[in-house]
Amino acid sequence: MSTTEESPTAAQAGASATRAFRTSRQHGTAGEVTPERVSTVVTALLDGVHRTIRTHQVTYPEYVAAKRWLIEVGESGEWPLLLDVFVEHEVEEVSAQHQQGSKGSILGPYHLPGAVRLPSVCTLPMRADEPGTPLVLAGQVRDTTGKALPGAELDIWHADDAGYYSGFAPHVPDGNLRGVVVADDDGHFEISTIQPAPYQIPTDGPTGTLIERAGWHPWRPAHLHLIVRSPGYRPITTQLYFTGGDWLDSDVAKATKPELVLDPRPQPDGRRRAEYDFVLEPA
Ligand code: DHB
Ligand code: FE
Repeated sequence: MSTTEESPTAAQAGASATRAFRTSRQHGTAGEVTPERVSTVVTALLDGVHRTIRTHQVTYPEYVAAKRWLIEVGESGEWPLLLDVFVEHEVEEVSAQHQQGSKGSILGPYHLPGAVRLPSVCTLPMRADEPGTPLVLAGQVRDTTGKALPGAELDIWHADDAGYYSGFAPHVPDGNLRGVVVADDDGHFEISTIQPAPYQIPTDGPTGTLIERAGWHPWRPAHLHLIVRSPGYRPITTQLYFTGGDWLDSDVAKATKPELVLDPRPQPDGRRRAEYDFVLEPA
């Protein structure tokens, strides 16, 4: 995909993602980072760097290239993109080790708070001529004992049919394909939207340069992002993918899990419908 006038640059997406992160309360705001943990973890991290240099006999030109690249990541505001794509999946898996309930996945850089609230049966905000195959996501939110969670919230956001997110790609209207859906008295929801396309890490910034220079690919499989919450329960941040979709087995962000793959079925009305139930554990 080439960069057109309309596609967001890495710098635009990065700057918006940095702003969103600074104002977000979603993740990692509770809990302390003690000096002991800083010392232990940073020492281990540096040991890993030093070991890599020795094992691979890293040269001065390579060190200088890495230093120049790291400076560019900072100057171009790409840290949120880079960290979420290459690091967050490991933190998510570690924190999930002792969790019950539905599987989670990474938050990623593109959540925005304050999306429009919608009833349990709804259509996400979209342009009048929104391109893409109509998709319905339906299911129920329950707790780990099987009890329905009335009024549970499903904060959902996803890319459009070209792989772009509202709030980060300037040509997509604010709030497009984002909403906070409130489940009914029996925890049920039925969300109409369109099928998102795979997402490509912006290739015009330092993250893209790295991917290209290393000979990797910049793609994430098509996905829906969700945060599912209900008072008294641990919120689940997750993503849902589509069976048979491109890049499902080689996600650049390593954020897929077999339990998170939907199998939407064509309906007589031409829409594709997928069922997915969420299970929350007590907080
Ligand atoms: C990135 C983008 C995503 O849409 C996502 O889900 C995870 C990471 C990124 O550009 O880093
Ligand atoms: Fe995403």
